[in-house]
Amino acid sequence: MVYGDTVLVTGASSGVGKSIAQMLMENGYKVYGTTRKPVEPGSQITYGKKNKKGFIEMVALDVRSEDSVKKAVEYIVKKEGKIDVLINNAGIGIAGAVEDTATEEAYEQFDTNFFGVLRVCRSVIPIMRMSRNGLIINISSVAGLISIPFQSMYSASKYALEAISEALRIELKPFGINVVLVEPGDMKTGFTWNRKIVKAANNDSAYKEQFAKSLNTMIKDEMSGPPPDIVANTVMKLLRIKKPPVRVVVGIKYKIIVFLKRILPARFVEYVVSSIY
Ligand SMILES: NC(=O)c1ccc[n+]([C@@H]2O[C@H](COP(=O)([O-])OP(=O)(O)OC[C@H]3O[C@@H](n4cnc5c(N)ncnc54)[C@H](OP(=O)(O)O)[C@@H]3O)[C@@H](O)[C@H]2O)c1
Repeated sequence: MVYGDTVLVTGASSGVGKSIAQMLMENGYKVYGTTRKPVEPGSQITYGKKNKKGFIEMVALDVRSEDSVKKAVEYIVKKEGKIDVLINNAGIGIAGAVEDTATEEAYEQFDTNFFGVLRVCRSVIPIMRMSRNGLIINISSVAGLISIPFQSMYSASKYALEAISEALRIELKPFGINVVLVEPGDMKTGFTWNRKIVKAANNDSAYKEQFAKSLNTMIKDEMSGPPPDIVANTVMKLLRIKKPPVRVVVGIKYKIIVFLKRILPARFVEYVVSSIY
């Protein structure tokens, strides 16, 4: 294990986080997974052979609450004395036209996907700095590289995550801590059904038809997407690399899309995105 065996995975009750936690446990890691739901403190699921025994222990944590983040991190550090790997995975999606999105709705999106990561990082980094070792994996999205209409607040929160991750990577290098972005495309998880629709996306909205079409496309693409194990596999690979890359796009289809976005004229990219959504 390049970074040690103690891992904190936010949002491990469902989808990507659950899959990552499971795979890490099966590979001998001590996984502290988080959920906002009430949990029985100290109850662990264990798995593994004699000398390679991992576990998952669920810990209550809401990334929107400074106090909750602090308590969860203190609990893990009290038990393990360290956190070697932090996987900032907890996230939500909010959909609706820019004009229909209230400031509070945009803030809720950022409070989870951006400020949530900031809160957890601020709690965990001092612990990693003390051991001069660590890996922070931020689960972003292809939507953090290509902005999606009617999911603009989600895209914006992931673009912001991309920005802090790039800077954080440079800031933490002298302390022996690595930061890497993981950018998946559409996947079949609870994300689709947990997505919030902005209040003003109703019958009075000027975007009613266009929004309905876009939302259907999002749902269809996610439901026909791969299971979240593809992200767990990527995370497992990153845990074995001493010098991880800045970002990893997950899946060959999305690697091609991101590459094309980089080389094609912006107007052409806009044409393709608007014809999909
Ligand atoms: N599914 C996709 O197509 C897709 C594509 C690209 C990127 N991603 C990213 O992958 C990550 C995981 O999403 P998913 O697809 O696995 O969705 P999911 O199945 O809905 O899981 C989301 C997880 O985040 C947790 N969560 C939500 N709000 C939270 C909060 N305020 N505090 C703490 N935890 C919170 C949930 O835990 P509780 O409800 O138990 O608290 C849950 O475990 C997200 O960052 C998402 O943006 C997803």
